[in-house]
Amino acid sequence: MPSPGFLAQVTDWAHSLLDEIILPGDTLLDLTAGNGHDTLFLARRMGETGTLLAFDVQPAALAASERQLRAADFSPRRIDAPQRIARPGIYLIADSHHCLDRYLAAEVRAAIANLGYLPGSDKRVMTRPETTEAALRLTLDALAPGGRLAVVAYCGHPGGEEETAAVQALFAALPAAEFDVLQLTAANHRCAPLLLVAERRPVEIA
Ligand SMILES: C[S@@+](CC[C@H](N)C(=O)[O-])C[C@H]1O[C@@H](n2cnc3c(N)ncnc32)[C@H](O)[C@@H]1O
Repeated sequence: MPSPGFLAQVTDWAHSLLDEIILPGDTLLDLTAGNGHDTLFLARRMGETGTLLAFDVQPAALAASERQLRAADFSPRRIDAPQRIARPGIYLIADSHHCLDRYLAAEVRAAIANLGYLPGSDKRVMTRPETTEAALRLTLDALAPGGRLAVVAYCGHPGGEEETAAVQALFAALPAAEFDVLQLTAANHRCAPLLLVAERRPVEIA
C-alpha cells in the first residue's frame, strides 16, 4: 500500500481547520505533545499573548517537544506539578491529559489530540480509550463558542481500533444543538487515520 499523499494527510487537515479559528491571546491545548510537531504548529499560531498547554506522560516526548520549540526560538516552561496556568506562554506538562482540569484556567479556542504511541519509542506507552475519552470530554466542556477540538485516531496498532471506535462514538453522540462534528478520512487507503473535529457552535444572537 503506498503511503498517503497530501490529500490523505489528516494531520495537515487538522492544522488547517484549527488555523482558521485561532486568534491572538487564545488558550490552546495539545493533549499529546509527542515529538512536538503539533505543539510547534500551535506555538507558531498563538502569538505573544496566547497560552499553550501541551501534555505528555513520557519524558522523552517532552524533551523532543522542548528541542523542537527551542530550535524555533520559543521558550517553553516545564510543569511537573498541578497548578492553574493563567499567564501567557508555552507550557510542557508532565501529566496525563485526563488531568488537564488541574491546569486549565481559561476557555479553550483550539485543541488537538494526535493519538497512539510516540514514533520510534516504546509502543507500549500509548493513549488508551478511558483516559483519552476523559481528556476529550474535559476539552469539549472547556471549548469556547466557535472553538474546535481535532482528534487524529489510528487503527493500525494493538488497541487502536477500539480507541478509534470509542472516539467516533463520543463525537457522534455530541448534541447537534451544541456542536458540529466533521469526520474525515482517506476512503481508499486501508486502515487510514481518522480525523474528527468538533466545533462548539457559536452563540446565536436573537
Ligand atoms: C502519536 S504521539 C503524538 C504526536 C505529536 N502530537 C507530534 O506532533 O509529534 C502520541 C503521544 O501520546 C502520548 N500519550 C500517551 N498517553 C498519554 C496520556 N495519558 N496523556 C498525555 N499523553 C499521552 C505518548 O507518550 C505519545 O508521545
